[in-house]
Amino acid sequence: MSTDQPASPHEQPAGNGNHANHNRQEVILCAENISLRYDKLILRDVNFTIRNITRPGVNQGQVVSLIGRSGIGKTQLFKILAGLNKPTTGTVKINAEQRPVKAGDMGIVPQNYILFTHRTVLENLTIGLKQSGRKLSDKDIKDTINEKADLFDLRDHLKKYPMQLSGGQRQRVSILQQVLAGNHFILFDEPFSGLDVIMIDRVVDLLLKVSCMHEHNTLIVVSHDVENAMAISDTVYILARQQGKEGATITETIDLVNMGLAWEPEIRRKPAFIELLDQIKHKI
Ligand SMILES: Nc1ncnc2c1ncn2[C@@H]1O[C@H](COP(=O)(O)OP(=O)(O)OP(=O)(O)O)[C@@H](O)[C@H]1O
Ligand SMILES: [Mg+2]
Repeated sequence: MSTDQPASPHEQPAGNGNHANHNRQEVILCAENISLRYDKLILRDVNFTIRNITRPGVNQGQVVSLIGRSGIGKTQLFKILAGLNKPTTGTVKINAEQRPVKAGDMGIVPQNYILFTHRTVLENLTIGLKQSGRKLSDKDIKDTINEKADLFDLRDHLKKYPMQLSGGQRQRVSILQQVLAGNHFILFDEPFSGLDVIMIDRVVDLLLKVSCMHEHNTLIVVSHDVENAMAISDTVYILARQQGKEGATITETIDLVNMGLAWEPEIRRKPAFIELLDQIKHKI
């Protein structure tokens, strides 16, 4: 494993194209035999593991996407992974000790970004930072928030209330709140929806930066947006229904690292990426 120290993302661009020197190490999340039934079966036999990826000289976190069409069960799986909903069968185990996940273990960025509406951006971010449990002086709090607000392009908005922000700005506050809270696992439900093309590029860039802020940072994205999910991920799982069977399951795993298609900011232009995208769009 490389260093456990947080690193400045400025010093470590997310994509430096070196795929050969990577290792998949210990399991940090394991979803085992997950099923979910309401009046009918929604999820069936969902199994996957996320391993700590290491690369020399880089704080390389993990970005995993679960993609599938609308109504397939992504948000339900999101809630199960976050420990917010109990599956009908199966368990989600996290960290080196592989203990069952519980509510609060993971940072979550839901689609309708939950912020305290009666508190300013600065107050919302301070709440996030205080959740980390770190002992910080008032000056440390101010410096940390200012530094990160610059990185997230929120410096001019610290005194505003959530209602005075655009959707993209609210999303960045919500992501930063989770980063400041110090959760290494952060789950995102549809992080690209409702954003224009330029904002999508910015959030993609931001998520790659967040993933490289700490060796153990692990982002799990559930999305129906195949292209954007693929562009930021090292691994993509397709959640779909198999013919004649009830409930959605993982029908395919795409290892973008082994394919040489991860960690590249300009990935969308590569012919191999475009071809893969075309194939996958027919599978969800
Ligand atoms: N409390 C519930 N009781 C019964 N069925 C439910 C309940 N909550 C969700 N469902 C069903 O579970 C299925 C999966 O819903 P989910 O919200 O996970 O879909 P999704 O993949 O996130 O879709 P989208 O891309 O539109 O967000 C849907 O058919 C939905 O109707
Ligand atoms: Mg959903």
